[in-house]
Amino acid sequence: MKVIKDRETLDGWLEECNRQGDEVGFIPTMGALHAGHLSLVAEAQKSCSKTIVSIFVNPTQFGPGEDFAQYPRTFTEDRAKLEEVGCDAVFLPSTETVYPPGGQTFIRVEPLASQLCGASRPGHFQGVATVVSILLNLVRPRRAYFGVKDYQQFTLIKQMVRDLAMAVEVVGVAIVREQDGLALSSRNSYLTAVEREQATALYRALTAAKTLYQDGESDSKILEDSARQVLLAAGIEKIDYVEVRHSETLVKEWSGQTPVMLIAAKVGKTRLIDNMLLNQETAINEGNG
Ligand code: PAJ
Repeated sequence: MKVIKDRETLDGWLEECNRQGDEVGFIPTMGALHAGHLSLVAEAQKSCSKTIVSIFVNPTQFGPGEDFAQYPRTFTEDRAKLEEVGCDAVFLPSTETVYPPGGQTFIRVEPLASQLCGASRPGHFQGVATVVSILLNLVRPRRAYFGVKDYQQFTLIKQMVRDLAMAVEVVGVAIVREQDGLALSSRNSYLTAVEREQATALYRALTAAKTLYQDGESDSKILEDSARQVLLAAGIEKIDYVEVRHSETLVKEWSGQTPVMLIAAKVGKTRLIDNMLLNQETAINEGNG
């Protein structure tokens, strides 16, 4: 696996891909790789002849007081995992490579960016949209892969790519979960044993709402309340939001369309997010394999 740290080396690798007629699949990440990330690589390998993962803990998407400094950085392990699954290249840009000094351009996707997670993390999605557009311009892939674990992020990136006529196909990949339903996340490593147990309530809350929906309930408030009850019963009280939204646009009005339920809550000090399309069969590890 080629380890690429600067723009010149990246351009050389991309030229070689071009010469060979390869289609490049790109998976942007912040590292601390787990089976969720690796499922994106596996998905890319199905339709692209070359795959490249970027690892960059993007400072502009962390707010003051968030976990930028603390975010796990585990490159040795990450590299071994990527080698093992046959990833072709890993891109580890420096901050200066992504953000050359003197930069003045930021991407705002409004109103999508200021609701749900954006409401409690001001500036977060501007950081995400900006870094993803920069990374896409550096790597210029045929396809880019994103987990629907970060459903709002996925929706926002599709919107940005459409609005800016970016020449990339955005592919969404299903959530990989632990056996007990907890969605894999690099931040799960912050949880204590007790919190880890509590955290399973997010999946149970989503499943409870889905069951209600599939039994004919279509009132957002009733669906949201049922999920809230499951969280509260597990002792999760710092609920940021529990919302049912239109699964394509994330607007509140979804009647007649596929609804998605999105949850963000703090378990101890750790903010977790999860979501589920309410019209689909429940299957843990639906995206695995
Ligand atoms: P990160 O949190 O490292 O996630 C990288 C990609 O892995 C994202 O597309 C995310 O949705 C996906 N992912 C994470 N957990 C997953 C799971 N359990 N199942 C399936 N996919 C999962 O998201 C980011 O980094 C950053 O915001 C980034 C897009 C790289 C921009 O900095």
